[in-house]
Amino acid sequence: MSGHGTPEPLRSMKAAPLKGEAHVPGDKSISHRSLILGAMAVGETRITGLLDGEDVLRTADAMRAFGAEVIEHGPGNWSVHGVGVGGFREPEDVVDCGNAGTGVRLIMGAMATTPITATFTGDASLRSRPMGRVTDPMALFGAQSYGRRGGRLPMTVVGAESPVPVRYKTPMPSAQVKSAVLLAGLNAPGETVVIEAEPTRDHSERMLRGFGADLSVVDTPEGRVITLKGHPELQPQTIDVPRDPSSAAFPVCAALIVEGSDVLVPNIGLNPTRAGLFETLRDMGADLTYENMREEGGEPVADLRARFSPDMKGIEVPPERAASMIDEYPILSVVASFASGVTSMHGVKELRVKESDRIDAMAKGLRANGVTVEEGEDWWEVTGLGAHGVPGGATVQARLDHRIAMSFLCLGMASANPVTVDDAAPVRTSFPVFEPLMTTLGARFERLNTP
Ligand code: S3P
Repeated sequence: MSGHGTPEPLRSMKAAPLKGEAHVPGDKSISHRSLILGAMAVGETRITGLLDGEDVLRTADAMRAFGAEVIEHGPGNWSVHGVGVGGFREPEDVVDCGNAGTGVRLIMGAMATTPITATFTGDASLRSRPMGRVTDPMALFGAQSYGRRGGRLPMTVVGAESPVPVRYKTPMPSAQVKSAVLLAGLNAPGETVVIEAEPTRDHSERMLRGFGADLSVVDTPEGRVITLKGHPELQPQTIDVPRDPSSAAFPVCAALIVEGSDVLVPNIGLNPTRAGLFETLRDMGADLTYENMREEGGEPVADLRARFSPDMKGIEVPPERAASMIDEYPILSVVASFASGVTSMHGVKELRVKESDRIDAMAKGLRANGVTVEEGEDWWEVTGLGAHGVPGGATVQARLDHRIAMSFLCLGMASANPVTVDDAAPVRTSFPVFEPLMTTLGARFERLNTP
């Protein structure tokens, strides 16, 4: 899939033992939310450690289009002068969210209860992803939307003139849908309630509270019930964005599969709604330890140390863990290829509607590199070939999906033959320093000419 300019093919060759410290960028989920909530507060929010990936830069531009003043003072150091809940102005042009599902879905929620109209679009990947999961609950608030067939972008959302509060049970485990409903609920009167059968990442809940919203979370037999009181005056905040566990996954997993590696990945949040991969790796027998465990801003944080782990075993990943590691299945499947035995992953049909169909993208790419993969609509299984058994040697398609590109670049660091990714440009959406950072640790990449 193309859609962002000239492809940038990149080849990953057998790495030297990966050694040293990997300082990964700021958390993508928290970066989007910092900008959006900052724009909905009254006054100046200061942000440090903001991810300067393309997805987040699109959200910064979008917040400007909706009337907030968003300024970059230096790397990671930003300020947002917000316009208050209900204070968004109508964008003068189409809002292009690039590759970012989180960006577009949260922003649709944030504007859907304000009487303005906005048209959203994105790159070829984002234009193929379903937006009905957000526009359905927005219709309950009184908003209207007009998109392409199947609820695809470009899409125009007409915000509700007189929004009503909503009680909504999310039909799939999705923090984006939950967050869109909560952000819409900010400008509705009364109480907006979201119920999720399985808990998903809870950054919106934590941050809304931090900005002064009245929000309660109660676990009931029906699921997690989140109640938000409408019309708060959000107070600007000072936010230090933690480093992204989903980006940490790449140097951690690369270290586990590259012979002789020992890598420290400092300051990684271990919020239980995000840390499922690390538990899974430890269940597989990975030499992955948490050093310097501490609490920061109410969240557990540790330095992760990952060492080459030649004796990992395939496992059945508990399906109830899926939401807490949903973005990490592609790189887990790479680790599984270097374990012995079968790793089975069930309850993961959401993977089919990410930046790409991630089961299909990984299955095809792994098979091309000599790994056996079985799949069904909501499950897949990878048969490991052991620490030295993966042939590699193929060129794979990244499909405009940063995590597919990075996963196969990690595969190539440990396989017998180099692995080529047809287009590594999407890596810039979430991890712009991936290539230099991994090179410093010992990875070897070769840039190729566009075919
Ligand atoms: C995100 C939620 C998840 C995740 C995405 C970021 C968020 O998406 O895959 O990368 O920041 O809320 P879903 O809500 O579609 O599961």
